[in-house]
Amino acid sequence: MARVVYVNGRYLPYAEAGVHVEDRGFQFADSIYEVCEVKGGRLIDETRHMERLERSLGELRIVMPMSRAALGLVMREVVKRNRITTGLLYLQVTRGAAPRDFPFPEGDVTPTLVCLARRVDDAKREARAAQGIAVTTMPDVRWGRCDIKTVMLLPAVLAKEAAAEEGAQEAWLVDPQGFVTEGASSNAWIVDPSGTLVTRPTGNAILPGVTRRTLLDLLSRENIPIEERPFRVDEAERAREAFITSASGTVMPVVAINKVAIGDGRPGALTLRLRSIFHQVAETSL
Ligand code: PDD
Repeated sequence: MARVVYVNGRYLPYAEAGVHVEDRGFQFADSIYEVCEVKGGRLIDETRHMERLERSLGELRIVMPMSRAALGLVMREVVKRNRITTGLLYLQVTRGAAPRDFPFPEGDVTPTLVCLARRVDDAKREARAAQGIAVTTMPDVRWGRCDIKTVMLLPAVLAKEAAAEEGAQEAWLVDPQGFVTEGASSNAWIVDPSGTLVTRPTGNAILPGVTRRTLLDLLSRENIPIEERPFRVDEAERAREAFITSASGTVMPVVAINKVAIGDGRPGALTLRLRSIFHQVAETSL
């Protein structure tokens, strides 16, 4: 089946889709994105993704390309036209196309909107979760506004590549004080020896993950102790359990950090339990 992508008002086959060569997303990464899980053909945590999209756009003073309701219709249509049951929806908004110049273009420039959806092999992802992933730590060389979900992802690309070259599936980024900020494309969590979950508080240093937020709701419902505080790499290596959260993997166990086994080197019991009940609290759109 030919895949279809939404670009600026039209649903097009991939081969016919494209954006302007002077799009500011292409030239300056002057652009915001969102990734939303699709499960059972439904969008997961759509409201929180939309809220974050609006916030990110607002921080960069890019206008919403259309109303939230209209955007919701486009997202559903893309999922439907591509017949996605399990997968991801990707949404990108750029400031639009204009002759290359650093300041914001004058006048009304129409934002570029791209929306696409992709199938994910659920069996493969579950197999990965059953095994757990390895992470490698490296310096966080990103900018000072990591709370904005921009497509300025070159540091993440390089970090993931370096991790992959070491046989790891994610990179944990470390600030100059030695504290883990987050994963290259996920939030980082540990379970301390007393069973308390630890994750870094939100702020400019990390992306406020939607999965992170929903998991916090789950923890409060389950009365699981949680401390929002920074943690160091050596504390993480001594943790009872570790995991990452993201829309693409929900709760994904980490079994090794810098080749040091976490716990007994297998996915932690609490991590697996949280993974199995995560969708009980996540919002599922109709
Ligand atoms: N990544 N931190 C970073 C730097 C991220 O890129 C992501 C998401 C997260 C987790 O956020 P959420 O739970 O809202 O997905 C944290 C997406 C999935 C990606 O770039 O593919």
